[in-house]
Amino acid sequence: MVILKSPEEIRKLRGNNLIVAQILEALKKIIRPGVTTLELDRYCEELTLQKGAKPAFKGYRGYPFSLCTSVNEEVVHGMPSERKLQEGDIVSLDFGIYHQGLYGDAAVTVPVGEVSDEAGRLMRVTEEALYKAIEQTRVGNRLGDISAAIQNHAEAAGYSVVRDLVGHGIGRSLHEDPQVPNYGREGRGIELRPGIVLAIEPMVNAGTYAVKVLQDGWTVVTADGKLSAHFEHSVAITENGPFILSRIDGKPD
Ligand code: CO
Repeated sequence: MVILKSPEEIRKLRGNNLIVAQILEALKKIIRPGVTTLELDRYCEELTLQKGAKPAFKGYRGYPFSLCTSVNEEVVHGMPSERKLQEGDIVSLDFGIYHQGLYGDAAVTVPVGEVSDEAGRLMRVTEEALYKAIEQTRVGNRLGDISAAIQNHAEAAGYSVVRDLVGHGIGRSLHEDPQVPNYGREGRGIELRPGIVLAIEPMVNAGTYAVKVLQDGWTVVTADGKLSAHFEHSVAITENGPFILSRIDGKPD
């Protein structure tokens, strides 16, 4: 069941997601070769508590960290560790908070130092796919329009979209209906209405879409070991078009 949000709830969700966006920006600033993913996690948690919020992922189904750090062939749910980031790596930072009875959730993939043209292109196409999806996040469109926008853009660039993980509704729970697949067909699925809030999160692989979960029970990696990128925004559907809750200025490009 899709839960519509009131204007008041959307205001709070905006506040939460703005905190998420600001913390992701702060994390980006300290990313360089030699930084460990655990240092990113600690800094992330410290900033969250400073804002009076709670890290949403910590304790969620037993996940032990505030941040997910997924490096190179890691797709999502990479666990912070003593691993030092290296020049040429790409790292996805996926982060959520709980505050005022509501969640916030967003992710970015960022380069560590100079990265290959191929890695740069994968990140660019994935973020473009997210924005193509956001353009479809309009009253009267259908969920399939969002999914198809992601799939079409990624596949036109020669990449594949992960099937096993999806975006989601967000509000008083981190994961609400509807599921938001990164593949699908235009015109299918539920109709988009004002008050629906979606966390849209394309995961795009350079090679096969197949993924597997590592022994740690969390880290999702590409089955072929090729690179993967991930971007996520929480977006509210309004009469005036998409409101990107987790973007600093709230607007599309
Ligand atoms: Co999410």
